[in-house]
Amino acid sequence: MNALSVEGLTRVYPGGYQALKGVTFAVAKGDFTAIMGPSGCGKSTLLNILGLLDRPTGGRYLLEGAETARLGDAELTGLRRARIGFVFQAFNLLPRLSALENVALPMAYAGAEVDERRERARVLLDRVGLGAKTGNTPLQLSGGERQRVGIARALANAPALLLADEPTGNLDSKSSAEILALFKELNAEGMTVVLVTHDPAIGAAAGKIIRVKDGALA
Ligand SMILES: Nc1ncnc2c1ncn2[C@@H]1O[C@H](COP(=O)(O)OP(=O)(O)O)[C@@H](O)[C@H]1O
Ligand SMILES: [Mg+2]
Repeated sequence: MNALSVEGLTRVYPGGYQALKGVTFAVAKGDFTAIMGPSGCGKSTLLNILGLLDRPTGGRYLLEGAETARLGDAELTGLRRARIGFVFQAFNLLPRLSALENVALPMAYAGAEVDERRERARVLLDRVGLGAKTGNTPLQLSGGERQRVGIARALANAPALLLADEPTGNLDSKSSAEILALFKELNAEGMTVVLVTHDPAIGAAAGKIIRVKDGALA
């Protein structure tokens, strides 16, 4: 079964720039897929659509078989919260919150009780090797540690699909290798992973590579 599939996907930005020119591919459940290509070719545009953060202007996007174009904004938000974890290059953590609070936040949006949120956030931070630093704010963590928090937060609502946009783009090579190892572990446990990367080591670790050039598959 496909985790997702896109058919003839297009995205024209207001102003007329066509960032995606008809992209077709599928990702099977349990796949580890890397999206690669030069800067500006449309990778983030594509990943944002896959993450339900943006809508295509044409073509189809089926998430777990469901036609996303039929869903309203509230339904898309609900689906995103329940099924998708998103990891950002710049981590996008809230600076005033502790690691624990950052990880617990998506659970609050999903309606979990406060004790359950804290307990699960602790388990997830343990899972990514940060069990001893749950009280640290982002400024009190290294880049690699911040991205671990980002990954724990992405896992908060037990998603089926983990998306990451250049997750190691701001990290040194040692931290990058650790983050890659974490993605591989999660994938080995059954998580579907789709990530955008420039890092050949990540490309090599992924089972499949989707190459994008100029808004189309290369
Ligand atoms: N909100 C936007 N409005 C207009 N153009 C955009 C917008 N976002 C991205 N673009 C343009 O779309 C192209 C693809 O961008 P992006 O998907 O971010 O590329 P990549 O992630 O591969 O570097 C770029 O030329 C970029 O300038
Ligand atoms: Mg990008």
